[in-house]
Amino acid sequence: MSAGHAAAGEALLEVRGLTKHFTLHGDIYSKLAGERTQVLKAVDGIDFHIRRGETLGLVGESGCGKSTTARLVTRLIEPSGGEIRLKERDLLSLPPGRMKDVRKSVQLVFQDPYSSLNPRKTIMHILSRPMEIHGLARSWSEKRERVLDLLRRVGLGLEHVDRYPHEFSGGQRQRIAIARALAVDPELVIGDEPVSALDVSIQAQILNLFRELQEDLGLTYLFIAHDLSVIRHISDRVAVMYVGKIVEAGPAAALFEKPLHPYTQALLAAVPEVDPDKPPPRLSLRGEVSTPIDPPPGCRLCGRCPRQLPICAEVEPPLVAVGDDREVACHNL
Ligand SMILES: Nc1ncnc2c1ncn2[C@@H]1O[C@H](COP(=O)(O)OP(=O)(O)OP(=O)(O)O)[C@@H](O)[C@H]1O
Ligand SMILES: [Mg+2]
Repeated sequence: MSAGHAAAGEALLEVRGLTKHFTLHGDIYSKLAGERTQVLKAVDGIDFHIRRGETLGLVGESGCGKSTTARLVTRLIEPSGGEIRLKERDLLSLPPGRMKDVRKSVQLVFQDPYSSLNPRKTIMHILSRPMEIHGLARSWSEKRERVLDLLRRVGLGLEHVDRYPHEFSGGQRQRIAIARALAVDPELVIGDEPVSALDVSIQAQILNLFRELQEDLGLTYLFIAHDLSVIRHISDRVAVMYVGKIVEAGPAAALFEKPLHPYTQALLAAVPEVDPDKPPPRLSLRGEVSTPIDPPPGCRLCGRCPRQLPICAEVEPPLVAVGDDREVACHNL
């Protein structure tokens, strides 16, 4: 039984076998040449859970499927298969009329606050519109009061309420994007690289804001980043993705202290400053990142892995519990 199953009762979000395959049809010339359609396995059967009030950091190289996972959980795109349970309700079998509740409960903060805020609307409009849609504030004065409360929570004030997004700095805009996510009293907030576009000093402020809001409002986070120091700072638990798969998951401290999967070890070895007191494990991977297009059977790391066994090319290693809330997908531990 995986740790995901064991934690089912206490999980706010439980994801099982979540899959998103994109069919690539190719251009007219490839069709004329008789080339077959390819399948890009962006997310290929992942399991994870997030307990109420905790932060799960999702980390992995560019293209491994992090944003696709975020879009699937928020139901911006339809999965090809799998289960998504929020508070034990199966989101994929909900009637369309009930999806509004889910959209309210799960909010997404994007990487780029420049393109995610409508430049023609004031902050008052941007923050009050979601409240109107979900019937959370009716009168103008109630809306204004809630908007001011949100602005205060994210470190902005009354003087900002009638301004437009272009009148703010990048860090302030991300504060507004966070306030907009909070405007509908969500339970789960998904940050898709929400600090990656910001200056390093501003990143720390926004990460601290995420933490404070979590404490004050009891929020649960799925926090996506490719920067390990960001993931380490913000996460209670971490899931490591590689080419559409979760290869390792566990409590952040334990995972950074003793990574088990060769891919996690290589990721940490590439960032020597992660723990200045301890030399990182010396491990590097050969070759290029594997492709998610029609991947061969077996482990996705096959061909690059220094611990490879003959079975690795044949059988995909399942993600299995290895004690202390840790899970790993590797034939050669
Ligand atoms: N609509 C789509 N059609 C076809 N392929 C897609 C589509 N959306 C994403 N992909 C592919 O799915 C894979 C995963 O993409 P995704 O955006 O989830 O990666 P990511 O981990 O968020 O990367 P990054 O760190 O660069 O943001 C990539 O190979 C991407 O090209
Ligand atoms: Mg992404």
